[in-house]
Amino acid sequence: MGNNFLIWILLLCTFRSVSGEGCSLILKPSRVVVGFGESVSVSCEAARPVRVLGWESAISASHTQEDRSVQWKVDSLIDWIEEPICYGVFFTAPKQCEEKLNLVLYKTPDSVSIRQVNHTGPMVAGKEYQLLCEVQNIAPVQYLSLRWYRGQTEVYNHSFSDLTSSSPVQVSSILVITPTKAENGVQYKCVAELELGPEGPQPPPTVSSEPLNASVYFPPTFLSPEPEILDSIPGDELILNCTATGNPTPIYSWQSSVPMQERAENEATVTSSSLLPGTYTCTASNTLEKKSKQFIVKAKTKGV
Ligand SMILES: *[C@@H]1O[C@H](CO)[C@@H](O)[C@H](O)[C@H]1NC(C)=O
Ligand SMILES: *[C@@H]1O[C@H](CO)[C@@H](O)[C@H](O)[C@H]1NC(C)=O
Ligand SMILES: *[C@@H]1O[C@H](CO)[C@@H](O)[C@H](O)[C@H]1NC(C)=O
Ligand SMILES: *[C@@H]1O[C@H](CO)[C@@H](O)[C@H](O)[C@H]1NC(C)=O
Repeated sequence: MGNNFLIWILLLCTFRSVSGEGCSLILKPSRVVVGFGESVSVSCEAARPVRVLGWESAISASHTQEDRSVQWKVDSLIDWIEEPICYGVFFTAPKQCEEKLNLVLYKTPDSVSIRQVNHTGPMVAGKEYQLLCEVQNIAPVQYLSLRWYRGQTEVYNHSFSDLTSSSPVQVSSILVITPTKAENGVQYKCVAELELGPEGPQPPPTVSSEPLNASVYFPPTFLSPEPEILDSIPGDELILNCTATGNPTPIYSWQSSVPMQERAENEATVTSSSLLPGTYTCTASNTLEKKSKQFIVKAKTKGV
C-alpha cells in the first residue's frame, strides 16, 4: 500500500501536478453548499512557501505571488458548471499541485405538483391507480429525496442519487395505489427535500405539493348483512334499521310481503308500532351496486 502510494505520487509529479493528499494546499472550507444567487467565499492556503498561488475559475479567477493565501469570492453565484480549482507553484518538489473545490450550487424547485394519471374524479375501492408527482427546476437532482405521504404516514421515498446533473432539471415519480374504502377523504402529498449534507442548510430545504384529496367510491355496506328477525308486540315500536355506509351515499327503497302503512321512500330506518308480520326488504343502492337486507317481523303476543 505504502509503496504503491509513493509510485502513484511520483507518477503524478512527473506528468501532472499533484492533488489531494501530498498537495500542500488547504481549502477553507473544503466543501461549500451555496444557494442559487447567493454569495460564496473560499480561501486557499499553502502549507509551505509558494511561488504562485491562484484560483482557476470561469468567474473570479485570481492569483497572488509569494502570498500564502488567496480567496475565491463571488457575490452572486449563478453559474451551474463552475468548478473552481486552486493551484500552487512551489519552490520545492512537488513543484505544482492543485485542489478542486467541492462546490454544490443548489436551487429549490419552482413547483412540486401531484395529480392522478389517466383518470379524473373519484377512484373506486380495490382498483389500481397511479399518482404522479412532478418537480420543476431542481438542482442538483442527485441530492433530491421525494417523499410520498398518505395522511401523516410516509408511504414511499424516491431517491434520485443515481442521476447526475449540476444544472436544474425536471423529474417525476409515480406512486401506484389501490385505495380501500377507509382511505376515502385521505390526503396524498409529495415533498421534495434537498439533502445537501452537513454543510447545507439545516433543516434541509423542502417544498411540498398541495394535498390531493382522495375520493374513494365503495358499494353500500351493512354493519350486519344477515336477515334480522324481530318480534312484533302490539303497541311496541319496532325499528327496521337498514343504514349502510357507501360512497356515494346510498339511497334506500323498501318492499314488503304485506302492506306497509308507513311511507319509507329513501329512509334508512322504518320506525313503527303498526308493522304487520311479514318480510320487509330494504335495498341500499349507489352508482356502484345495489345491496338488500331482509327484516322478518313475527307476531308475538304480550306476556308469552
Ligand atoms: C395514459 O393513457 C395514454 C393514452 O390513453 C397511454 O398512452 C399511457 O400509456 C397511459 N399512461 C399510463 C401511465 O397508464
Ligand atoms: C427511504 O426508503 C428506504 C427504503 O425504501 C429506506 O431504507 C431509507 O431509509 C429511506 N430514507 C429516508 C430518508 O427515509
Ligand atoms: C381537501 O380537503 C380539505 C379538508 O379535508 C379541504 O379543506 C380542501 O378544500 C379540499 N381540497 C379540494 C381540492 O377539494
Ligand atoms: C342504525 O344503525 C346505525 C349503524 O348501522 C346506527 O349508527 C344508527 O344510529 C341506527 N339508527 C337507529 C335509528 O337506530
